[in-house]
Order: sequence, then structure tokens, then C-alpha cells
Amino acid sequence: MKLVKTKDASYTAFNKVFDEHYHTVSGAIEEAFEKHVNALGIENGMHILDFCFGLGYNSIAACKDHKNLQIIGLENDIKIMEAMKNIEIPDILKTEFAPFRNIAENLDITDNNNNRIQILIGDALQKIDELPEFFFDRVFFDPFSPKKQPEMWSEEIFQKIYDKMKSGAKLSTYSCAIQIRKNMISAGFKVIDGPIVGRRSPATIGVK
Ligand SMILES: C[S@@+](CC[C@H](N)C(=O)[O-])C[C@H]1O[C@@H](n2cnc3c(N)ncnc32)[C@H](O)[C@@H]1O
Repeated sequence: MKLVKTKDASYTAFNKVFDEHYHTVSGAIEEAFEKHVNALGIENGMHILDFCFGLGYNSIAACKDHKNLQIIGLENDIKIMEAMKNIEIPDILKTEFAPFRNIAENLDITDNNNNRIQILIGDALQKIDELPEFFFDRVFFDPFSPKKQPEMWSEEIFQKIYDKMKSGAKLSTYSCAIQIRKNMISAGFKVIDGPIVGRRSPATIGVK
């Protein structure tokens, strides 16, 4: 795993096993805000599932200007979270990032605005079964690509996530692949285009 500076001055990582970056190199933190946080809209007190927490950018971007969020992050690689300790963060997220730098050691941190992030370490495909049903208002769905991790993008997984969401809740993801959207629709989601950021095709938003 190697850190790489992206065009908005935030760092992403490159994973050699999957041969993929963790974010778009056009801007890692911009992606977190545009494809996930702003695309879904966040309100104080929401319950959020961060499916593939990584460096935590999606969750921590959600904390900016919000309070009383309850966020559960699923992640199977403690090493990527250890990289949060010393990673350089641009001004746009620096203050919000600070309280969560040690999350690899604590796994449960609450910031000064009562935003709580709890991490469940392990395979997200199994950890999802431990979560309550009809609980989440927002889901950031951010595994490696369907080509590299097809098992993460199956109808079965979308169905499990769907069951954990409240009625009217929304999920964001960067892929707009037809088969992925079909799997989401089969699981019950209404699917709409998300924003176009860092490439020609739109992201995807699923609504329960
Ligand atoms: C594309 S990156 C996500 C980036 C992340 N959202 C961020 O802001 O840094 C995918 C993440 O999924 C994690 N991951 C891959 N397979 C997993 C699995 N089966 N269970 C849990 N996490 C997994 C990887 O370790 C990696 O951190």
C-alpha cells in the first residue's frame, strides 16, 4: 500500500493486490464530498453505514458541519486505518479529521460535535449480518471495483444492505455499471444517476 497525492491535494492509497487506487486520482476528498456526502445530503443525528471505511474520508466528510451522527464503518484491513495517523489532510477536512486519526487503535471515537464513528473489523460480507434492520439513513458503498471484487457487488449483498436501511434512505456508490444497477434494482432500490466527478460517467444513488 503506497500513498499517492491526488489533484485536490489530498492523498489516496494504491493497493498492489487489487491494482487499484482507493479513490479517484482527480481528487480523493473531493470525491468523498461530491459522490457521497453532498450527493446524498446529510442531516444531524443520522445513522450512516460506511461500507468499506478505508481512510475514512466519506465518514469524516459527513461529520463536517454536522452533529450527533452515528456512523458504523466496515473495514477488513487495519493497516489502511493506521495510515490515517500521519496522513496529510488539506484544510477543507483538517479539523474534522484530527479526532479520528487514532481510530485504528480505538475503533470507537466521538468528536466534539458528538459525531461517533465505530469500526467493525472483519469481512464486510459477514459483518453486515450483525447490524440492525431498518436502521441506516445513509450508506456510503465504496468497495474496490466490480471487476476486482465482484463478490461485494452482488444482488445478495445489496439486498442485505437494503434490509438494514430505513424507508426513504439512500445509498451512494461510484459505479454506474449496468449489471451493478440491475443488482441494486433486483434488491429493491430505485436507482438514479449521481454526480459526474473525475470521469465521464455518473455515480449511482440507490433509494429505498
Ligand atoms: C475503494 S477503498 C475505499 C476507500 C474509502 N471509502 C476511503 O475513503 O478511504 C476499498 C476499501 O475496502 C476495504 N475492503 C476490501 N474488501 C473488504 C471486505 N471484504 N470487507 C471489508 N473491507 C474490505 C479495503 O481494505 C479498502 O479500504
